[in-house]
Amino acid sequence: MTGPGPGLARGRLVRLAETHRPPVPFRFDGQPMAGLSDDTVLTAILTGTDSLRAAEFGPERRAGFCLMGACQDCWIWTEDGARLRACSTPLTAGMRLLSDAPRDWPA
Ligand code: FES
Repeated sequence: MTGPGPGLARGRLVRLAETHRPPVPFRFDGQPMAGLSDDTVLTAILTGTDSLRAAEFGPERRAGFCLMGACQDCWIWTEDGARLRACSTPLTAGMRLLSDAPRDWPA
């Protein structure tokens, strides 16, 4: 078996419970996505895709490590240039997030 079947989760994380919470739309690298109310940004992104960003020193992709705000592996950016830790940032409707720093970052 090589992956989930049609209609099943395609992200690195799979929701097993609390799937009834209201959806929260956002964008990640320009693509429309949706998390659920009370998700962290990390949970919302990784239930829909397999990584948060590129590694700094190699070809690998990163998806967070500690999941509790301590390791800094989950840095991502907003389109307006703010950097945030995905694992400790609550998802809010309309967020426009990037897996890579904006061209002019840091300003
Ligand atoms: S995963 Fe470690 S700080 Fe977010």
